[in-house]
Amino acid sequence: MDYIFAEGNGREISGKDKIFGVSQLAKAAIARDGKENVINATIGALIDDEGKLIVLSSVVDVLRSLTPEEFAEYAPIAGIPEYLEILPQAAFENYRPEGYIEACATPGGTGSIRNVISNFSKPGDKVLTSNWHWSPYKIIASEIGRDVATYDMFNGSRGFNLEGFEAAIAGLLEKQDSLVVIFNAPAHNPTGYTPSNEEWDAIVEILKRQAKPGKKITFFLDIAYIDFSGDSKTARYFLPKFGNLPENILVVCGFSCSKGMTMYGMRTGAIICVTPSKEIAEEFKRVTSFSSRGSWSNCVRAGQTVLAKIYHDEALLKKVMDERAAYEKLLADRCQAFKDAAAEAGLETCPFSGGFFVTIPCENDEAVNEELFKENIFGIAIGGGVRIAISAISEEACRKVPAAIARAIKKING
Ligand SMILES: Cc1ncc(COP(=O)(O)O)c(C=O)c1O
Repeated sequence: MDYIFAEGNGREISGKDKIFGVSQLAKAAIARDGKENVINATIGALIDDEGKLIVLSSVVDVLRSLTPEEFAEYAPIAGIPEYLEILPQAAFENYRPEGYIEACATPGGTGSIRNVISNFSKPGDKVLTSNWHWSPYKIIASEIGRDVATYDMFNGSRGFNLEGFEAAIAGLLEKQDSLVVIFNAPAHNPTGYTPSNEEWDAIVEILKRQAKPGKKITFFLDIAYIDFSGDSKTARYFLPKFGNLPENILVVCGFSCSKGMTMYGMRTGAIICVTPSKEIAEEFKRVTSFSSRGSWSNCVRAGQTVLAKIYHDEALLKKVMDERAAYEKLLADRCQAFKDAAAEAGLETCPFSGGFFVTIPCENDEAVNEELFKENIFGIAIGGGVRIAISAISEEACRKVPAAIARAIKKING
């Protein structure tokens, strides 16, 4: 893009919002053919079978009960104390990694990504993530003068590419003395992938091997989809593996209430560290609070208050979890239906096990996606594949879409 008045600052701004563009097409198709004849798989939120946003009513009840002071007053920069107190439980539940834990409130998980990059990498550095990734990672990095480097996420046997991951870390640490690794799991966006137990172990071993003396690795675990990655009660089982790592590995967790609490627009999240060093934990708190002050200042008090109230009241917490469990099942059933239908249609997908999205790798992804428009199926071409939001379409649609994609790929790519 050519800039007229604004400074480009090395950023690539296309000016086109792809998701918005396709969802406009889906809306036009609904107006033309009726909503029962359109599959709008563009939306990154949990939508019921009638096309309505799912919002946990138990969470809404708490929100409605707030006094004016509980939502109108400024929150402290790092977050209200009651929220900070329950954060380790909300993020880790019974699987708390051992070490010093400190946290700072952020506007959603997005804020935690900005804060981890700005505090644990230098201008001009590269941060590492997988080739399939949530595109805002790159936007956030470029906004603050960093870039993103990638490795191929999958090996030839539909597993996590441990070799590529390790080689990329080693390569970057030859040029930089510190590295931020962004790792989105379980139920990765856009693929729906969750590493196996053995893969998690191997990932930890790689971090230990590559964190050589004089080098620092910040491992940022983006758990935005953890509550919709299968059974939310056990989904966190792997977290203790990230406890008590060497001092030159800082584990940072990006926590978000957007999906798990259906509070997308309430912009409530946190950045949480786990480290064997008390001093590093205290420094973490100081620097992340400072960055918050210099960007968004404090975060939405209402969202923090709601979460604190839920976690401070056992009966209320149970109510919220029980309500959510029904939606976890809804999504798991859609996921299974998509998997079965893909197998039946001989459609190769990225390996997936849960979450909001499934990705179908293909050449000419834009053309394949446009071919699907003709069948009133609207996904997003993400460069190298088509992303389908199973969070937004019914189980019945999940049964239909794979065959349609297989047909579209055949037609476009032969
Ligand atoms: C991979 C990933 N990380 C983090 C987020 C953060 O979301 P929010 O800022 O709404 O909490 C999202 C939201 O879509 C996401 O897909």
